[in-house]
Order: sequence, then structure tokens, then C-alpha cells
Amino acid sequence: MPSPATKPDARIGVRGAGKSYGNLEVFRNINLEVGDAEIVAIVGPSGCGKTTLLRCIDGLIPLSSGEIAVEGERVDHPLPGVAMVFQHFGLFPWKTVSANVAYGLRLAGASKAEIAERVPYFIKLVGLAGFENAFPYQLSGGMQQRCGLARALAIEPRVLLMDEPFAAVDAQTREILQFELIRIWEMRPTTMVFVTHSIEEAVLMGHRIVVLKGWPSSVHEIVEVDLPHPRGRSTLAHPRFAALREHVWSTLMDEAKAAELELQT
Ligand SMILES: Nc1ncnc2c1ncn2[C@@H]1O[C@H](COP(=O)(O)OP(=O)(O)OP(=O)(O)O)[C@@H](O)[C@H]1O
Ligand SMILES: [Mg+2]
Repeated sequence: MPSPATKPDARIGVRGAGKSYGNLEVFRNINLEVGDAEIVAIVGPSGCGKTTLLRCIDGLIPLSSGEIAVEGERVDHPLPGVAMVFQHFGLFPWKTVSANVAYGLRLAGASKAEIAERVPYFIKLVGLAGFENAFPYQLSGGMQQRCGLARALAIEPRVLLMDEPFAAVDAQTREILQFELIRIWEMRPTTMVFVTHSIEEAVLMGHRIVVLKGWPSSVHEIVEVDLPHPRGRSTLAHPRFAALREHVWSTLMDEAKAAELELQT
């Protein structure tokens, strides 16, 4: 089931990446290539460095060793065309839905005419038509997350990074948003890397799943998700879905059991 970390048409290249915060070594020697229009899910125990790795790919924080490149360009600051969706929406509370979506485009240097055209399109795409003038406090958690998604998608990113994008919404909304994101990806295939604690979400949406493990962590396994496309509700009933979920689950549980044993001895 493991697959090679290299892809011939890599959009993102992570080579020998290591990160420490002072004396705390979070991860070491991470190698990963993400292909064009590929969706990669990152899973691993809490505190293993998933958010840290995503922030390094986004150029928000520097690596301690190794390097990361997006389309061959070394990441040492946030690069244009790389968008991030945060767990807690990250919207401006004083801006309307339209203004929040427009903000990302303005930052990306879009013209007024482009903004006027794209904002309504992406608001509609994520199912928020009619709420253009609403403020975040007037929206449910799921709607706020849709707004965050629209803002990220509106710049038509080369790379979309998402840190537990649906963790803060209820189970039904989460499922709806997962299928929406798959639908949006089918319409506009984009390179995506997302972090999740949900193994089901990783298997449903990921083309490959990167399992981080160990202290400091590194890539323990890369699981190829050989489920047919387009993915949808029927994917959940596919026999391969259950087998892959079980595989990833037992891989992660080994670690939890080992940690438990260590505590007991
Ligand atoms: N800015 C920081 N300064 C110092 N240590 C940090 C900083 N950010 C994260 N850490 C530490 O680095 C480790 C990895 O944190 P990170 O947030 O990347 O983990 P994670 O895998 O995303 O965890 P979770 O699944 O709980 O979100 C943790 O031990 C955390 O305490
Ligand atoms: Mg995290």
C-alpha cells in the first residue's frame, strides 16, 4: 500500500524538512511531493506537527532544515497563489460575506472588474447566494466556513491548504461541506493539502494519505487511496473504503497504544 513520495508533475516539493521550536524537535526529514490537482490528506496524533508543517508550506513560519518549493519556487515567505483555510474560519467580523471574499482577491492584486465578477461567482459556488451582505455573526458555523472557502477559492489558488477545515462544524454540516468541496474540486481541480483528525474524511477526500508518526514525527506511511472518482456518498459504502479506513486507523492506533504502554511502565 505505501507509494513513492515523488510525483513527476509536483506542485509542492517538501525535501528533508525538519522543524524545531527551541529544544522541541517537532518533525524531521519529511519528504513529500504533491502532484498537480492532487488532494493529499495529512493525519497523525495530536501535537505531531501537522499544523506546523502546513504553516511551513504556506511560508508563514520557516523550516529549521530542508526546503519546501511550490512549482519549483522556494518557499521562504507566503507565495502568491497559495491559499489557506483555517480551522476557525479566519473571517473579518466587521466585513460582510462579499467584503471578506473580496479581501483575498484584493490582496492577490485583482482588479476592481475581476473582483466584481469573481466575488458573486464564488459566493454562489459555495452555496452562499443571498447572504452577500450578511456579517459573520449572522451566519452559522458551516456558512462561515463556506465563506472562508469562497475567499480561498476566489483567488483560484495554485495550492489550497486547509487545517482541519471542518472541525468546528457539526457532523451533518461537515458531511455536506465534504461533498461540496469534492464537487468544487471536480469542477476546478486544484492541488489541495488538508489536515484532518477524521480518518473517514481523509479516505473520502484524499487521493493519498500521509501518516505522520513518532516523536519527532516523520512520514510513517503514504497510503494510496485507490477509490473511484467522482467520490460521493456511495464511496462511503465501497468495500475499499472500509479497508482503507481500517488500515489508517490501525496504523494510528499502534502509536496510541505504544504511548499508553509507555505511560504504564
Ligand atoms: N509557536 C510555537 N512555539 C512553540 N512550540 C510550538 C509552537 N507551535 C506549535 N508548537 C509545538 O509544536 C508541536 C506541534 O504542534 P502542531 O500545532 O503543529 O501540532 P498538530 O499536529 O497540528 O496538533 P493538533 O492535531 O492537536 O492540531 C506541539 O508540541 C506544540 O506544542
Ligand atoms: Mg493542528
